[in-house]
Amino acid sequence: MLHRHIALCLSLVCLALTLLSGCGDGESRLPDYDYRIDIEHFEDAIMQNSDKYLLLANKQHPLGATYVPEALCTLDASLTLYGKEIQLEESAALAVEALVRELWACGYTDIVVTSGYRSYGYQQSLFYTYIEKEKSNYPDWSDAEAEAYVLTYSARPGTSEHQTGLCVDLISTNYVSLDESFAQNPAYAWLCANAHYFGFILRYPQGKQAIVGYGYEPWHYRFVGVEAATSMHESGLTLEEYLDKI
Ligand code: DAL
Ligand code: ZN
Repeated sequence: MLHRHIALCLSLVCLALTLLSGCGDGESRLPDYDYRIDIEHFEDAIMQNSDKYLLLANKQHPLGATYVPEALCTLDASLTLYGKEIQLEESAALAVEALVRELWACGYTDIVVTSGYRSYGYQQSLFYTYIEKEKSNYPDWSDAEAEAYVLTYSARPGTSEHQTGLCVDLISTNYVSLDESFAQNPAYAWLCANAHYFGFILRYPQGKQAIVGYGYEPWHYRFVGVEAATSMHESGLTLEEYLDKI
């Protein structure tokens, strides 16, 4: 009788501890993916699950000239092309560090970050540089024609997702141009299969221009947190479609 009483008490204590810990038999919040890097340092960042990581910036939803992300951090220079200074929102910065270090750990050692946060002013200079480039490539084009073409691949200042500080352009150190050939790099197939485990989505997929506003950009990844990224990965929805649904 006494033994049964002790056993019952122990069971109740175990149940209480389990309920208090909120995590059953020690199961992790992390997704079912075998991380090669030590993910503990990055776990809180990649598991962020707040509306602020679902911020939409596109042609229909401009951020405006004055928007600056709250907490910008500078990426470690080893993660960037030529060690250039690149800033990102703090959780996105940790998440991209985890993503790039995991790519390296999986053998894709040529992949680095070439672009992150861009200010309104920087996007403005980029956009008008592209218009001048297209006008010299196609001297017959009017300003309006050149601008219409540039708008298929570059955002008008105030509308770029790069101004959110939540996205990156990845590049190979073996081929330092950003074009569709990034999709031929073996790292791209890995990113398509695994970027969501780090909270990232391929933001401008093939065949979605009518929804996302731009052509295919196999190099551009947007941080949204693991839960939203996994949902978009599994459903095939773009950020615009996902936000319409939730
Ligand atoms: N290339 C992307 C669309 C940008 O300019 O933000
Ligand atoms: Zn980009």
